Amino acid sequence: MNSHIKAVDINNVWKFFNLGGTVLVEGKHGDDIDVMPASWSMPIDYNKLGVVLDSTHYTRKLIEKEGYFLLALPTVKIVKELMYLGSNSKNDVDDKVEQSGLKFFNIEGCDFPLPEGCVAWAVCKVLKEPHNEKTYDLFIGEVVAGYADDRIFNDKGEPTFETAGEELSILPNFGGAYFYSLGKRVSVPGY
Ligand SMILES: Cc1cc2nc3c(=O)[nH]c(=O)nc-3n(C[C@H](O)[C@H](O)[C@H](O)COP(=O)(O)O)c2cc1C
Repeated sequence: MNSHIKAVDINNVWKFFNLGGTVLVEGKHGDDIDVMPASWSMPIDYNKLGVVLDSTHYTRKLIEKEGYFLLALPTVKIVKELMYLGSNSKNDVDDKVEQSGLKFFNIEGCDFPLPEGCVAWAVCKVLKEPHNEKTYDLFIGEVVAGYADDRIFNDKGEPTFETAGEELSILPNFGGAYFYSLGKRVSVPGY
């Protein structure tokens, strides 16, 4: 395992997913694993994250069976893999994840393999809200474990993208393959 990846305080995890970046959503049931990108994800409390998962997606079916999902925060490094995962469904392509080229690593105590090329990961337990899931495709997860790359996030969960280099930038998305990498930090005098 990469020595930069550290378990983090669950109550800091929302900061990683408050950056407007695309996320990777991982579902798993037994040996069956699927990963898809999602632009529509957001923190909704210190220890809760929301994500929109269309009812046709294979990843969602695994999450519904398992009751857990993993969110990861991908970087510029894996934008090609991300676009493959978001343009192909495991409903049609059985070995979609292998074909994408996405690599994984394992961390002790975590059942989900963590995608490489990301800078933060959160294991979430689905808080069942059938109305939201059916009507808005909105899934809410309680964070039960969080991990982050200490080259990007310090102990308080504060990022340092300005010194990390473009490859480690997350990926704000404006539809399809329209991404940005992060620019400079804006400091506000007096705050
Ligand atoms: C950049 C990007 C962002 C996406 N955001 C979402 C999203 O927020 N919610 C969603 O349901 N699908 C989203 N998609 C579409 C799914 O990722 C895509 O349909 C994927 O192939 C589903 O795979 P699966 O059926 O194997 O789960 C996005 C796709 C891309 C490329």
